[in-house]
Amino acid sequence: MESIRQRTKLRIGQIGIFRANHGQHSVNPALPARQTDRTGELIAAVSVPIFAEHVPRALTGEADPERALRILRKTHSGLLCVTLGARGSMLLDGNQLYRVPAPSVRVVDATGAGDVFRGAFIYGLLRGDSPVDILRFANATAALSCTREGALDSVPTRREVEEFLKGKGQGSKGKGQESKGKG
Ligand SMILES: Nc1ncnc2c1ncn2[C@@H]1O[C@H](COP(=O)(O)OP(=O)(O)O)[C@@H](O)[C@H]1O
Ligand SMILES: [Mg+2]
Repeated sequence: MESIRQRTKLRIGQIGIFRANHGQHSVNPALPARQTDRTGELIAAVSVPIFAEHVPRALTGEADPERALRILRKTHSGLLCVTLGARGSMLLDGNQLYRVPAPSVRVVDATGAGDVFRGAFIYGLLRGDSPVDILRFANATAALSCTREGALDSVPTRREVEEFLKGKGQGSKGKGQESKGKG
């Protein structure tokens, strides 16, 4: 079977990083700041958009993240991901939806969690992991970073993430509560 990596013909520079800020200063208060009339063009230009939680809603008007991703699917054929804070993350691959809850951790400082998630997601994708494994690894990496103070200093090593997943019984062979939708 073709891996996700082959199907997305991934080049690292094409990974989209969407992190709209929580803008009080937006011209249109219904939209996050930094969303402009060219945001659609920007999304179309990247192969793997990874949205912050409120962005799919802002783009589509649909509050439910799954439904919002399915609307965005009409204008983008690549993997579409959204991070959901303590609730984990969701990925639409074709019409197949994957949802993986974040591990429960004692949060000290969530600064940088979104960036850590994206870095780990890219790593899992390039390694050829399955969609669920990509989300599981990225969630775990980001969650671990939340247990430590700081942004850069809080990024865990790969070994730490692997040990953490093993401890949770979520090693690559383990079973989590992740779900695969009906597509
Ligand atoms: N309270 C938390 N507990 C566990 N994991 C978390 C928590 N907050 C964030 N994460 C992890 O970090 C990822 C990114 O966090 P999120 O809040 O969605 O991004 P941002 O705040 O940058 O928009 C989440 O998808 C999740 O994997
Ligand atoms: Mg957050």
